[in-house]
Amino acid sequence: MKTILLTGAKGMFGQDAVKIFSKRGYKVIPVDIEDFNITDEVSVTNYFKDLECDFVIHAAAFTNVDLAETEREKAFLINEKGAENLAKITAEKNIPIVYISTDYVFDGGKDSAYLPDDKTNPQSVYGESKLAGELAVKKYNSKHFITRTSWLYGKNGKNFVDTMINLSKTQSVLKVVDDQKGCPTWTYDLAEGILNIIENKNPYGIYHVCGSNFITWYGFAKKIFELKNINIEILPVTTKEFPRPAKRPRNSVMENNNLCRTWEESLQKYLENTATF
Ligand SMILES: NC(=O)c1ccc[n+]([C@@H]2O[C@H](COP(=O)([O-])OP(=O)(O)OC[C@H]3O[C@@H](n4cnc5c(N)ncnc54)[C@H](OP(=O)(O)O)[C@@H]3O)[C@@H](O)[C@H]2O)c1
Repeated sequence: MKTILLTGAKGMFGQDAVKIFSKRGYKVIPVDIEDFNITDEVSVTNYFKDLECDFVIHAAAFTNVDLAETEREKAFLINEKGAENLAKITAEKNIPIVYISTDYVFDGGKDSAYLPDDKTNPQSVYGESKLAGELAVKKYNSKHFITRTSWLYGKNGKNFVDTMINLSKTQSVLKVVDDQKGCPTWTYDLAEGILNIIENKNPYGIYHVCGSNFITWYGFAKKIFELKNINIEILPVTTKEFPRPAKRPRNSVMENNNLCRTWEESLQKYLENTATF
């Protein structure tokens, strides 16, 4: 039985991933901040001292995109230094590392889907810090998989799908941004996609693990309400009309080389709540 150590195990992705990896026959070592702080090199080294595992999947991160704009140092400490510490210790122990990254490493100016080797140019502190994490992982552990995902949702965290459904309980009209497009991704598909990459003996490198096809936030909201039979008026608005502290890419669409099914199929499954994991 192969063993996966998963950081960020109490997060939105982590909680689902623990179940999915276990169901797929892995022994999972779930770790979060109370096991060790990824920014503390000594704690990281001590934790790994007598530890044996086949893969480390590094999902722990500072994920509050807007807060990162005013907490730059903390975002870099967790997303860059944390990744560096894990990359160094895994390299020392000859363990491959999977680092979960983001579409926010791109500036959104491309007219077609982003390929893994496309030029990065983050527009937010969060994007910069996650890119710095990618570079640290590349630098310190040659056995790396960098898996970029986008527009992530899952039942154990704050996410767009649940936010829309909750808002519909108190509002009769919702304004949703219609000039940003991307690939919604269910935590389940991210976990499956990562396992497929490592099990199929893919070469080390960068992969895009996100839902196939793309949509705008407005289109995504429309589909959520349609599938849930919720009657609500939604109005398409521009990013300018809906300012946020951190700049978001206009185009977040990533080419996933068929690593995941379509976002529509996944959304339907998520909303049916029939997933048995
Ligand atoms: N959510 C998205 O839309 C999205 C999109 C693209 C990529 N990603 C990436 O996907 C991964 C998973 O995202 P998620 O939404 O599941 O994140 P999440 O729910 O915020 O979970 C992150 C986990 O990391 C833990 N953590 C934070 N700082 C830590 C530290 N210093 N040491 C140890 N653990 C620490 C957090 O603990 P606390 O809660 O106690 O801080 C939390 O349990 C992240 O790498 C994220 O950057 C997410």
